[in-house]
Amino acid sequence: MNPETVLKQIAAEVSVCTKCILHYSRKHAVPGEGRPEAEIMFIGEGPGFYENEQGRPFVGPAGKFLDELLQKAGLKREDVFITNVVKCRPPGNRDPQPEELAACDAYLERQLQAINPRVIVTLGRFSMAKFLPNARISEVHGKALWVNGRLIVPMYHPAAALHQPSLKATVIEDFSRLPSYLEMARQGQPDQTLAEEAPASEPPADQDEHPTQLSLF
Ligand code: URA
Ligand code: SF4
Repeated sequence: MNPETVLKQIAAEVSVCTKCILHYSRKHAVPGEGRPEAEIMFIGEGPGFYENEQGRPFVGPAGKFLDELLQKAGLKREDVFITNVVKCRPPGNRDPQPEELAACDAYLERQLQAINPRVIVTLGRFSMAKFLPNARISEVHGKALWVNGRLIVPMYHPAAALHQPSLKATVIEDFSRLPSYLEMARQGQPDQTLAEEAPASEPPADQDEHPTQLSLF
């Protein structure tokens, strides 16, 4: 099946999903949207008020800022794919709970498999934690790390920058690095064995636990 068909199927399932309690309070589930062949995928936290009303990701104030950030980075919204770790709005925008993240993860995994993006931009700590469970956003924001053959770029959540104006310039600068990260991802992951001669008796380093950090920053 082509990516577009798979994504439509996932969206249809999400729209009627009852796998966690978030389905009780939602108005519209928000599966995500964008180009099925996108090279960059943006993953936020969960729908907020406006997203729940419209069934579309990042359409409220944080979405307006995201649009600005994409534009400054020379990216078009229609060329990327945008989704969230939970597809239904947590009431009052509370944090998604571990059981909700776990229940919803299969949809995100299927979206990742269908789109197969070269670069994943995580927006906020919940999506960062999926790929970089031990990272601190204050240390890794705007950097690029190889995880399982993809470049993961953790960003501060755009809503955080709206609430803390001191973060705004940082987020803009971090986003401005995306074109060079995409170019790097197109070149592929450098062969680590050249840099780190591992003893033959040891298994290769697990990229999940030891993401390879780039020296671009
Ligand atoms: N914040 C998010 O994390 N996701 C959205 O879709 C909107 C706001
Ligand atoms: Fe289903 Fe995800 Fe919505 Fe929970 S948040 S009801 S798992 S689509």
